[in-house]
Amino acid sequence: MSSPSAPTPGSWPAPAAVASAEPPHTPMPTAPAAAPGLAQHVQEGLSRPFKTLSSMYFYDDEGSRLFQQIMALPEYYPTRTEFNLLTRHREAIGRALRPQNPAEPFFLLELGAGDGLKTKILLRHLLETDVRFTYVPVDISEAALQGLAGSLRAELPALQVEPVVADYGDALRLMASRPGRKVVLFLGSNIGNFLPPDRQEFLQHLVLPLTPDDRLLIGFDLQKDPRLIRAAYDDRQGVTARFNLNLLHRLNQELGATFDLAHWQHYTDYDPLSGAVRSFLVSTRAQTVHFAALDWQVEFAAWEMIHTENSYKFTRPGIAATVQASGLVVEEFFTDEQEYFADVILRPEA
Ligand code: AVI
Repeated sequence: MSSPSAPTPGSWPAPAAVASAEPPHTPMPTAPAAAPGLAQHVQEGLSRPFKTLSSMYFYDDEGSRLFQQIMALPEYYPTRTEFNLLTRHREAIGRALRPQNPAEPFFLLELGAGDGLKTKILLRHLLETDVRFTYVPVDISEAALQGLAGSLRAELPALQVEPVVADYGDALRLMASRPGRKVVLFLGSNIGNFLPPDRQEFLQHLVLPLTPDDRLLIGFDLQKDPRLIRAAYDDRQGVTARFNLNLLHRLNQELGATFDLAHWQHYTDYDPLSGAVRSFLVSTRAQTVHFAALDWQVEFAAWEMIHTENSYKFTRPGIAATVQASGLVVEEFFTDEQEYFADVILRPEA
């Protein structure tokens, strides 16, 4: 089973736009255009003493395809666990999210909806119980939203959908001016891809345009057997390794870089004290990489690492503390039978 939910930390704030180069006069087969902000990000991240690149750049077409495969892997438990959790608790979650007054306008905003496979469980349940609401998927990619809107039209023709192409902040501010209850969905443990201070800032921004009547539903992956967590990020088929290494392939394509993938490895560790899974790309020999598009080069020592991703795992008290520090209160806490994953309903502090 796969349930793509677009990984989205990078959508907040929208990556800074860079001035586009003059188009060539004769059209010729060219490499894909570099994503906005990529060049600046790479130069900055690879100039640090501990080199780093953001996981938000994993998701080019190939990266998104690999992420779909990851979600179907036997080791990658979060997607199917959250799917089962939502199926199991859909009635109680639906009850907690919808407004008391059925005549009150009700907007379900989803940040980074992907193909909405998990969300459809809730959408279908609300429609079946005659709740009147509008589903507002938000994404910076128009193509992603068009795909989702098409599948929703086919599968749930009665659903009212208003896709918004924007970064999360703009979308929330836009919706704040509409009367009625807003519920913000942020599923799939995307919250775990933020570093703690960024997570705090993200939640604070989310809560700002909301009123005490609004709600959030956020997915958190919980701490568990550390071997199980580690295996989810280092699968036997090597799909996660290809996903991580694809970032270097992307830099070769979009920035004319010369990464030789034969001399790079995927490495991941899990630190149960901080709850962080950290993923790295390891240079297996001393090497120099050139970036034609930047007219720049960078040296890597043997076994030097590029830190590419954090995937934090949470405890129940840790979630309560994090959300409280952002002006939110836990209203209801839903988990699966094994307590691997939690979908938590939050409300702004009155
Ligand atoms: C998108 N995000 C929640 C995934 C995660 O679990 O951190 C991305 C991922 N990285 C490696 N496997 C999956």
